[in-house]
Amino acid sequence: MSEIPAPVPVPLLDLKKQYATIKSEVRPVIDEVCDAQGFILGPRVEAFERAIATYVGTKHAIGMSSGTDSQLAAMMAAGVGPGDDVVTSPYSFFSTAGAVARLGARAVFCDIEPETFNLDPAKLAAAITPRTKVIQPVHLYGQCSDMDPILEVAKAKGIPVLEDACQSLGAAYKGRRAGAHGTFGAFSFFPSKNLGGFGDGGIVTTDDDEMAMTLRALRTHGETTRYHHRIVGGNFRLDALQAAILHVKLPHLDGWAEGRRRNAKEIEALYLEFGGKPFEQGGLKFPREAAGCHHVYNQFVVRVGKGRREAAKELLAARQIGHAVYYPVPLHLQECFAAWGGKPGSCPESEKAARETLALPVFPELTAEQKRFLSWSLAEFSRA
Ligand SMILES: Cc1ncc(COP(=O)(O)O)c(C=O)c1O
Repeated sequence: MSEIPAPVPVPLLDLKKQYATIKSEVRPVIDEVCDAQGFILGPRVEAFERAIATYVGTKHAIGMSSGTDSQLAAMMAAGVGPGDDVVTSPYSFFSTAGAVARLGARAVFCDIEPETFNLDPAKLAAAITPRTKVIQPVHLYGQCSDMDPILEVAKAKGIPVLEDACQSLGAAYKGRRAGAHGTFGAFSFFPSKNLGGFGDGGIVTTDDDEMAMTLRALRTHGETTRYHHRIVGGNFRLDALQAAILHVKLPHLDGWAEGRRRNAKEIEALYLEFGGKPFEQGGLKFPREAAGCHHVYNQFVVRVGKGRREAAKELLAARQIGHAVYYPVPLHLQECFAAWGGKPGSCPESEKAARETLALPVFPELTAEQKRFLSWSLAEFSRA
């Protein structure tokens, strides 16, 4: 039997540790932006947009003020408005459906696959209505949705696909990166994302020249030439400071993702080594990388069986081990979307995931001691 690991606090995420490793690269570019006193769009944003387009593998990338605004702008570019439907996953961050509602449209929810937590392509065709303007799969937790069958349905119906890739920069499906499969990819640079800024930020990727032009106009109130507006947009601009910082961080992204992948494997292996029980016996179900997918583990989300998630949370909290529930209420059951008619039971897999899932620490700078204490605590919990 392995030795009992010494107790050690394990935060869910420790951005200070990451910052310490890149501080000497980041500080000079902050100074450069401050010295130049150019803060909105400009050459820093343009250079970062080119770098992201190259990284994702699309012709264009258009910097935005957040992931939410990236989704909103992409839907506006696709012409989503009152009376339209957007088919999407009910098991996601709020903005996935919030952006739809803000345009006066309706989200039609298509339940998820239990293994990946992503939209189930087998249920997609039945969710399409004559008013469907966009299909928005969500690449949740750092893993791509099963894009081939989704694109097949979309193509047959002539409907554009917006990938909500906010959690999945660097993830890939059959060798192509997230954000390079649909008409649009929407990304977030919220600080806790794998590529996180020092504030809010986002970007939309696309291969479509016309859509790229429209998106650039939409992010500056629809302006095409100064103070001339053919369409109504918003202030969705990315700051130069964020672009400069994110550009410095980008070359580190794949290495950080490798660290997350290694930690995910190691934590599961340690859990088993410490005698952790399988899910069916009250233990944990660890996330799986689907065939053809490259998972970047923005979140490391396990399922806790037998209605014991609350007990797991209590144990982890008592041991100063960080954890979070993403997401406790699926979108079809959110009070503000009641008018869309979602009822308990309408998306059973999403509702089950909302009851069972728990996100655990996986960030690349976790120490060997932290991984051992985390895995041992989880294994001990599973046997209780
Ligand atoms: C799946 C998903 N979609 C959209 C967003 C929205 O991104 P942001 O917080 O940058 O607006 C997030 C970020 O939390 C997300 O995780």
